[in-house]
Amino acid sequence: MSTSIDQLSASSTQEALLAALDSARDLPAAQQPEWPDPVALEAITRELSICPPLVFAGECDELKANLAAAARGEAFLLQGGDCAETFAEATADRIRNKIKTMLQMAVVLTYGASMPVVKVGRMAGQYAKPRSKPTEVREGVELPAYRGDAVNDYTFEVAARTPDPRRLLRAYHTSSATLNLIRAFTKGGFADLRHVHEWNRGFVANHANARYEAMARDIDRAMRFMAACGGDFDALRTVDFYSSHEALLLDYERPLTRIDSRTGAPYNVSAHFVWIGERTRQLDGAHVELLSKVRNPIGVKLGPTTTAQHVRELIDKLDPDREPGRLTFITRMGAGRIRDVLPDLIDGLGEDSARVLWVCDPMHGNTFEAASGYKTRRFEDVMDEVRGFFEVHGALGTIPGGLHVELTGDDVTECLGGAEHIDEQDLSSRYETLCDPRLNHQQALEMAFLVAEGLTER
Ligand code: PEP
Ligand code: CO
Repeated sequence: MSTSIDQLSASSTQEALLAALDSARDLPAAQQPEWPDPVALEAITRELSICPPLVFAGECDELKANLAAAARGEAFLLQGGDCAETFAEATADRIRNKIKTMLQMAVVLTYGASMPVVKVGRMAGQYAKPRSKPTEVREGVELPAYRGDAVNDYTFEVAARTPDPRRLLRAYHTSSATLNLIRAFTKGGFADLRHVHEWNRGFVANHANARYEAMARDIDRAMRFMAACGGDFDALRTVDFYSSHEALLLDYERPLTRIDSRTGAPYNVSAHFVWIGERTRQLDGAHVELLSKVRNPIGVKLGPTTTAQHVRELIDKLDPDREPGRLTFITRMGAGRIRDVLPDLIDGLGEDSARVLWVCDPMHGNTFEAASGYKTRRFEDVMDEVRGFFEVHGALGTIPGGLHVELTGDDVTECLGGAEHIDEQDLSSRYETLCDPRLNHQQALEMAFLVAEGLTER
């Protein structure tokens, strides 16, 4: 079979587009591991670059449209999952518990605030972590910091902590398996609203569960009413659940950026939504450059020292066409700062402040080390930052469009407080995170009820 001129020119355009992505290679890239063996790394990135996409570009566009609706106040984004996923915990039980928790939170928000909820997991790719220090010292021994399962192992030993590029490939395959299960759960009947009670089964009984059960009974009654009237909608049987992670490791994100055959445009096909972290949002850095080139919906984390000038420049670079749903700002100011810092930031953006999607991450500005040495957060601070987020947007007339949280479906004891009154002594009983402390199942549900109230007022 001969190659047509059309095919030839299509492939050279593709090559040109892919080459343009490599502009990021020449720029400074913060938070990258020091891979010891460049030859091994090269072989792995080449292999990654021919692995099948994990998501379809059309799904990314669909999510972008949903995020545009959230930016207009017609929907609400719920984004949640582990701080750092691990290979060991990519099990059916753990994944199911996270999905159940997210579905429950979404029901609380949808029913409590009559608001469609866009569901996005920090799942199927959240395997790389930025660190405040490149090394960790224990009892006089200094080793590379743990940078997430995609880079090295948490065990404090030389071999374990040495970055190993084969882990990038394992991150890809584990993400693929996770996403497969997510798709099976959300499209295969498990997320059917008629199972709203079952999502609560298996979790220990507590106040938040009881409140959820009461709501689930109402929903059940409404569902039976609709069924009796002959109503039977597809929308009640399946759920759209999207994947997301921080686009941190360029040796993973770049090989998984591909040219979409429908549109001829580049997409990051490792997740539907990717974000740039607080430590890698330098305007002239490689992360901003690479994500400026892809067509996915993208996010940027904004901490308390962010200036409006910097954000305006980010908007010009990442969203020059002001495309609806393209850009999400995830603010993580801390409960003590949000009411001071966020208003000026929003005010300084002019018309763009009403166009982008504003999401609250009430976790990362509220982390501290307990006397026992555990990294933790007070549930009350987390809740207070969410309240501050609604207050600030309420006062300015902008839209508080979503929530970004670190959570797990398991009954861990990592954040202080909540209705179970977890205190500093309790932290050690079930502290399992390898990175930041997560809300447990009950705290996550409590948070959803609070946000539903905020949304009702909005
Ligand atoms: C995170 O989301 O786990 C994280 C590291 O956040 P940030 O970039 O906001 O510090
Ligand atoms: Co975190």
